[in-house]
Amino acid sequence: MKVRTFGVIGAGQMGNGIAQVAAMSGIRVIMNDIKEEFVQRGLKNIDGLLTKSVEKGKTSADERAAALERIQLSTSLRDMEVADYVVEAATENEPIKFKIFQDLDTICPPHAILASNTSSIPIGRIAFQTRRPDKVIGMHFMNPVPVMKLVEVIRGLATSEETFQVTRDLSVKFGKTPAEANDFPGFIANRILLPMINEAVYCVYHGVGTPESIDTVMKLGMNHPMGPLALADLIGLDTCLAIMETLYEGFCDPKYRPCPLLKKYVEVGWYGRKSGRGFYDYQ
Ligand code: CAA
Repeated sequence: MKVRTFGVIGAGQMGNGIAQVAAMSGIRVIMNDIKEEFVQRGLKNIDGLLTKSVEKGKTSADERAAALERIQLSTSLRDMEVADYVVEAATENEPIKFKIFQDLDTICPPHAILASNTSSIPIGRIAFQTRRPDKVIGMHFMNPVPVMKLVEVIRGLATSEETFQVTRDLSVKFGKTPAEANDFPGFIANRILLPMINEAVYCVYHGVGTPESIDTVMKLGMNHPMGPLALADLIGLDTCLAIMETLYEGFCDPKYRPCPLLKKYVEVGWYGRKSGRGFYDYQ
């Protein structure tokens, strides 16, 4: 199956990154979100990153212009009627994702593959919202998408071999390295990463150290490129909490209980970088 038109649902930090790498790979992209201002903001972000890349000499001015030209903006899911492959990167919320997949199933052509960039919601649960569970798969990009080399490809129970192969090939076309995972809560990446982040939040909660000292320990002591609390702020504390809750409920295991301090931050809207305040102050 040839993917000529690639749809992205959600123009936020993950969605616009996915649209950027797809457009740079030469594919026509339709980037969709619910409001015009959201898609415009997503496009502005892509434009900014590509402009910087041209300034650094990593991308030519022609490549930048061609990539931007390939991106069509959309505020109606109906535009996905021409898509061969759609990746959903909307809010990490089950009812929202379920509705999107139900709608995409009726709008997209029968051959279209529907992928989710979910960080932890079971692919099977999403797939069976549609009448094409064999064509539903997890395509999980890492943040920041243009920089991170990994795509975690998650097979649901009913995902077909063809769907898997197309997704794997597409990841390679986007310049990424795919790694295969099966459909268990948190898959591989977040099953391992999020308990570490949650433990770092417990260290703040218990007064073991300040965010600065905890991050310094992990950066200089373990050679992590950034500390777990700075990374939590980058991912978004609301997303971190949603993933911990999925692990906790999915495994019914208290070892995954989210730290009360993480809940407290999310309750007041301290989501990290995107809201200007998390474990660090970005204002
Ligand atoms: N978008 C695009 N490019 C970015 C970027 C962003 N948000 N942030 C940094 N970059 C680019 C920079 O422009 C720079 O590019 P060049 O090499 O072309 O100059 C490069 O990345 C390095 O950036 P910096 O020198 O500014 O900073 P750095 O060396 O500290 O790298 C980082 C920044 C890439 C974010 C690095 O700290 C890192 O790898 N951190 C860990 C990120 C990580 O673990 N991501 C996974 C999160 S988990 C996830 O996403 C899954 C989930 O479901 C939760």
